[in-house]
Amino acid sequence: MFFEQHHPELQVCVLAAGKGKRMRSNQPKVLHKVLGRAMIDYVLHTVEELRPCSIAVVTGHASQQVRAHVGQPANLEWVVQDRQLGTGHAVKQCESVIPGDVEDVLIVCGDTPMLRCSTLDALLNAHRRNKASVTMLTASLDHPFGYGRIVRDGKGKITGVVEEKDATDEQRLIREVSSGIYCVHRKVLFDLLHQVGNRNAQGEYYLPDIVPLALGGGLSVASVPLADASEIQGVNDRVQLARVEVCMQQRIIRDWQLKGVTIEQPETVRIEATVRIGVDTTIKAGSQLLGTTCLGDEVTIGPYAVLDDTWVDDHVQIFAFSHFQGANLGAGVKAGPFARLRPGAELDEDVHIGNFVEVKKSVVGHGSKINHLSYIGDTVMGSGCNIGAGTITCNYDGANKHQTSIGDGVFIGSDTKLVAPVTVQSDATIGAGSIITKPVQSGGLTLSARPDQRHVPHWQRPRKKSD
Ligand code: UD1
Ligand code: MG
Repeated sequence: MFFEQHHPELQVCVLAAGKGKRMRSNQPKVLHKVLGRAMIDYVLHTVEELRPCSIAVVTGHASQQVRAHVGQPANLEWVVQDRQLGTGHAVKQCESVIPGDVEDVLIVCGDTPMLRCSTLDALLNAHRRNKASVTMLTASLDHPFGYGRIVRDGKGKITGVVEEKDATDEQRLIREVSSGIYCVHRKVLFDLLHQVGNRNAQGEYYLPDIVPLALGGGLSVASVPLADASEIQGVNDRVQLARVEVCMQQRIIRDWQLKGVTIEQPETVRIEATVRIGVDTTIKAGSQLLGTTCLGDEVTIGPYAVLDDTWVDDHVQIFAFSHFQGANLGAGVKAGPFARLRPGAELDEDVHIGNFVEVKKSVVGHGSKINHLSYIGDTVMGSGCNIGAGTITCNYDGANKHQTSIGDGVFIGSDTKLVAPVTVQSDATIGAGSIITKPVQSGGLTLSARPDQRHVPHWQRPRKKSD
C-alpha cells in the first residue's frame, strides 16, 4: 500500500539510546539486523514515510556507531542521552530540538522493526479525531511477557500502564499491552515529563508514566488497538529477534508473491529485506537471497542455492547447491549444480558454468562454457570458448596474483594448467593435460610435452583375496 502523507506539524522521536542489555551483545541493539537490515533502518524508513516536520533520534550507548550507520539524512536531528535513565528521560532530551510550530510528538522505539507507516497514520488520525492529549498504540498479545500492561478500571477506562517488573501477579495476566508508541500533544508531553519520577523497580523515568499524570490532570488519553499485533513486537533479546525475523520473512515473501514471484516451500526460503526480484521468477526450496541480490524476470533459483550481493539478469537458471557472492550474471546464464562464484565473477550472456566450477574476479565472455571441475581466477576470457574439465588458472605464486588472458573461440582440453601471467590468443586450441607457461598462438594445436604412453606387458594388478 502506498500512503501519500505529509505531517508538517508532527515531530517524531525515535528512542535508540539503550544498550539492549538483554541482547548480551557488544553491538548496540538497534544495529542488530532483521533479514540483513538494521532494526533502526526499518523504523527510520517507516517514520520518514509519514513526512513529518523533523525526526529526532535519541542515542547514547555506542552513539557513534549508530550515527555512523545511519549517516545524516536532511531532516534528522541527533539527540544525546548521556545516561540511559529511562524512556521518559530519553524523550525529555528532545525538547530543545523541536521546532516551534510542532503540535504533536510521535514517539517510537528503535526496537520495533515490524511497525507499518499505515498504523502510525491511523494513530495520528485517531489522536486528532479524538482531540486527545495522549494517544497510545496498544495490542492484545497471547504472550504479553516483558511489555507494559494497560491497566483499566471497572468501567474499562484506562488508568495507567504498568511495566512487567513493577506489575503484580494479577496485572501480569493482562494481555493488553502498550506498544511503547505514543502520540502526545507537544506542550502536554514536556509538562508531564517534568513531573515523571523514577520510583519504580528499575529506578528509571518511564515514558508510560505520563498516562496517569495526564489522567490526573483531567486530560484525555485515548488508545488505538492494533489488529495485527505482530507489528509492535519489540526486540529485547535474541529469542525475540529470531521471532521477529520469522514474521518479517513472512511479510516479505507475501509481498513478492503478490508481485508475481513463485516461491516453493516458502517456509524454507530466506529472502532478505534489501533483495529485488522480477516477475515470473521461481525460488525453489531452501534457497537464500541475501544482501543486495537483484534478480531479473523469469529466473529460476535452487533448490538450496545461496546468492549474496549478486546481480542476475533475465532468464538465468541457477541449479541446486550453488553459492554466489558479489557476482554478475548476464541474461540466459546457466550455472550449477554446485557452482561457486566469488566476488568479481562477471558472466556475460548465455555463459554456462557447471558443477564444481569456481570463478573469481574474472570476466567470462558471451556463450563461453566452463562445465566441469575448474578454477578460473583473475582471468579475462572472450566469447564462445570451451574450457575442458579440470582446467585451472594457476594465478597465485605464493605472494602475488597474476592475470590470465584468453581470446574468443578458444578450446582448452581437459586438465590444462594455465600458469599466469599467460595469454591465449583467439581461436587457439590447447591439448588435454597441458601445462601452459608461455603465450599460446591463434590457430593450430598447442600441447605441452606429455610423458610417452608405455605399455608394461604381464603386469598384474594386485587381486583381492576373495577374487
Ligand atoms: C518499553 C515500554 C513498554 C512497552 C515496550 C514495547 C517503557 C518504560 N516501557 O519497554 O511499556 O510495552 O517498550 O516494546 O517505556 N531507550 C532509550 N533510553 C533509555 C531507555 C530506553 O533511548 O534510557 C530506548 C531503547 O533503546 C529502546 C526503547 O527506548 O529502543 C525502549 O526501551 P526498552 O528497554 O526496549 O524498553 P522495553 O522494556 O521494551
Ligand atoms: Mg523494547
